[in-house]
Amino acid sequence: MIKATLAALGYKLSHVSELQQVSLGNFANLVEAYEQRINESATPASQLPINKLRPKLLARLLGTSPSEAYFIIQALHQCKDLNGDICEFGVAQGETSALIANEIAHTTKKKLHLFDSFEGLPKPTEKDQLINDIYALGSMDAYAGKMACSEDMVRSRMQAISFPLNRHVIHKGFIELSIENDKNLPDAVCFAYVDFDFYEPIKLALQYLHKLMPLGAIIIVDDYNFFSTGAKTAVDEFLEEKNSIEAFYSLLIPDVRYGYFAVLTKIS
Ligand SMILES: C[S@@+](CC[C@H](N)C(=O)[O-])C[C@H]1O[C@@H](n2cnc3c(N)ncnc32)[C@H](O)[C@@H]1O
Repeated sequence: MIKATLAALGYKLSHVSELQQVSLGNFANLVEAYEQRINESATPASQLPINKLRPKLLARLLGTSPSEAYFIIQALHQCKDLNGDICEFGVAQGETSALIANEIAHTTKKKLHLFDSFEGLPKPTEKDQLINDIYALGSMDAYAGKMACSEDMVRSRMQAISFPLNRHVIHKGFIELSIENDKNLPDAVCFAYVDFDFYEPIKLALQYLHKLMPLGAIIIVDDYNFFSTGAKTAVDEFLEEKNSIEAFYSLLIPDVRYGYFAVLTKIS
């Protein structure tokens, strides 16, 4: 009964051994020291402000590692004075959305646009070959429909951190349709986290963002060379198209110990 109720909400009951328990106090201590290190080498524009809620939200992340999250956090602060809103493409249960919302809550008046079908992953295409069988399902096709979460979970995450209702928009639906039909799309975007996993929606999100991003805007694409080949192919193709005549974007692929993701900065 408890298991079924939790499963309906997208959670799983599992036994936590003593070894798996992490003290939030210890984690918060590590966060403080890590931030000190980051700030020692950061430019004034990308210095991280202290944020009391941040360690808790970092500890709750599911698909995004804390080390990748710091690239997101730094990018958000670096882009805070640029024109445009913030977007997340592929939201799931909204843990990374809460982390992003918390960073921008008091430093900007920007809106957070959250795009998700809430129906899980779509059917993969031939550009999505399985690299890492993360759920041990045996094939890429078996991932269609996986990772579905409810929109209410995202709303309650926003509520839990008191992020104002008028500062976020949930764009429910497949991105292919949302970017055509939604009435509340952003006019400009200064930072986007693209976490759709598969080739087609990622490529589409990148093309959509290209028209909306000012100079200096940043896109972080998750799962570059991880899980499906789709994310890397979409990024590589996008950059080849956009950078062929004039270099529109710089690309950073951090060491894999930070995670598997690509950082694109608009440079012209
Ligand atoms: C990996 S999860 C996102 C995880 C989230 N960013 C986080 O850090 O917790 C991928 C999400 O993308 C959504 N998604 C995938 N393809 C989509 C599409 N074509 N349109 C809308 N949503 C899509 C899925 O529903 C799923 O919730």
